[in-house]
Amino acid sequence: MIPDILVEKLQIARSVAVLTGAGVSAESGVATFRGEGGLWKKFRPEELANFDAFIRNPGLVWEWYQFRRKLIHEVKPNPGHFALSKLEKHYNNFTLITQNVDGLHQTAGNINIVELHGNILRNRCIECNSMFSKRILEEDKKVPLCDCGGLIRPDVVWFGEMLPHGAIEKAARAAEECDLFFSIGTSAIVYPAASLPGIAKQNGAFIVEINPEPTPVTDIADVVIYEKSGVALPIIEKKLFH
Ligand code: OAD
Repeated sequence: MIPDILVEKLQIARSVAVLTGAGVSAESGVATFRGEGGLWKKFRPEELANFDAFIRNPGLVWEWYQFRRKLIHEVKPNPGHFALSKLEKHYNNFTLITQNVDGLHQTAGNINIVELHGNILRNRCIECNSMFSKRILEEDKKVPLCDCGGLIRPDVVWFGEMLPHGAIEKAARAAEECDLFFSIGTSAIVYPAASLPGIAKQNGAFIVEINPEPTPVTDIADVVIYEKSGVALPIIEKKLFH
């Protein structure tokens, strides 16, 4: 499943960048957005994941995020997450760029993480933008208020919003500078994250895709592994170390 050329590239790489998407957490039990069982099949993004929707109906949006947080609290990183954290320890220069908001890469032990779409476990005020650190109970249905009186929202990126300050710049730099780039478990259609594999390719990186399904990255990838990341990544990690 893992071609020799990839093992060779893993051994000589000096700088590695990894882009992950919802597929990496699928084997932990977190639903992806698109495809079979995807969240956007059951829910309408325009009603739940944008700022105007929150202002129109804060309670509904808050309740949806409380529901997703409850699910995320119940899951654990899978062997794919753990393999990525072992890879980070091996390289001096390793950047994990994720579109996921579930915090599972942190739990698995990765450190140099760029969270492009925020983190569902954090909250902030829509007025003064300060982080909200008070404990939020899982069953709380009422939207909390900041000391300044503003509504508290999850610290995630909604449709039409800018990415967190500096995140895409740091991710693009990692894509430009790496010699080995992985695109794992992402449909690679949501920009600007979807531009990163192309940036890495243009700058001479070797591109590896891990996904059971083809995506727009497949055409530019040097190696495509049509497999679940929780299966493929531990094999890759073992090949590197043994
Ligand atoms: P998607 O739901 O669009 O795509 C998930 C990808 O994971 C698909 O290509 C699947 O084939 C693949 N997949 C499924 N199971 C897998 C497994 N076990 N191992 C590896 N791959 C697997 O999720 P994202 O690409 O992350 O944005 O979506 C990008 C963004 O769209 C999300 O961050 C979110 C969403 O709207 C915001 O909320 C801003």
